[in-house]
Amino acid sequence: MNRKVTVVGGAGNVGATVARSIAEKELADVVIVDIADQKAAGIALDILETCPIIGSDSRIIGGSDYSHTANSDVVVITSGVPRKPGMSRDDLLNVNFGIMKAVTAEVIKYSPNAIIVPVANPLDAMCQAVYRLSGFPRERVIGMAGVLDSARMSAFIAMELGVSVTNVNSFVLGGHGDTMVPLPRYSTVAGIPITELLSKERIDAICARTANGGAEITKLVGTSAWYAPGAAAAEMVEAILKDTKKIMPCSVFLQGEYGIHDLFVGVPVKLGARGVEKIIEIKLTAEEDAALKKSAGAVKELTDIIKV
Ligand code: NAI
Ligand code: 2OP
Repeated sequence: MNRKVTVVGGAGNVGATVARSIAEKELADVVIVDIADQKAAGIALDILETCPIIGSDSRIIGGSDYSHTANSDVVVITSGVPRKPGMSRDDLLNVNFGIMKAVTAEVIKYSPNAIIVPVANPLDAMCQAVYRLSGFPRERVIGMAGVLDSARMSAFIAMELGVSVTNVNSFVLGGHGDTMVPLPRYSTVAGIPITELLSKERIDAICARTANGGAEITKLVGTSAWYAPGAAAAEMVEAILKDTKKIMPCSVFLQGEYGIHDLFVGVPVKLGARGVEKIIEIKLTAEEDAALKKSAGAVKELTDIIKV
């Protein structure tokens, strides 16, 4: 395989799922890096031993040595502490910022041309930390959250209407937190906005469940989700490596788009070989715009605390 993806934190739940998904899709060779070096080696070996069964020639290695990551095309950063029940994503701010500092220095030393996909929480603030610490252009730091939040909303809509999930396209903007902004007007089933198919009461319930989607899983499992987050990050990696130009909601550094300046917030973007190839601006109602600005304000409170 001539493409390489590094997953930092890949011995953990989300990272291992991303690595496995990339190998399953045969997108690239994968280097798993983790401070838990033996576990990283073991997870890599386990995924490698899966490859003959699933018919993939991806090569997977793992450990704590960053030299193996040299010249990665994409680096996914999942290293970070996950939530426990009752914790908010924001409770993770300072400890995960410390981890981002250590990790980003190594990533950029070995892969100065990579596209970085941060995943660790609080997501938008961690993206901004990586962006500032790396000095990379904004096109090459792209946070994963909107793909997950939209997938959750799509799952809830499909369940509510008893339709195929493949009919559903959902749209969630804003920061990856309690203030995220599900957009029913732009969420469709076979092209029909859900506002034509469901009562306001049912839509409100779906939006609330979407915003609470991470906490719902955390309460059930005892730690935060990993299957859907891992699949979401792998979908972004696929769009980048295959240069598909797929439009998906990602956390990106806004410089005036949506009236937001110098802040990572989730908006629809076109993903391709160059990373963020276009930020798509859609018209929002006054109410939607106010919700987006409130969500951006919540991200800014965090970036101000860590001064990034
Ligand atoms: P986990 O605890 O299973 O895995 C984290 C891994 O990071 C561990 O293997 C740990 O050894 C490693 N690690 C810690 N410090 C490190 C360092 N300095 N260098 C290298 N590796 C290091 O946690 P999980 O469930 O995989 O979650 C990871 C992060 O992703 C959490 O911050 C979580 O909140 C976040 N998350 C974000 C989502 C999103 O939508 N953006 C969705 C799900 C989780
Ligand atoms: C999630 O949404 C906790 O951010 C993580 O599952």
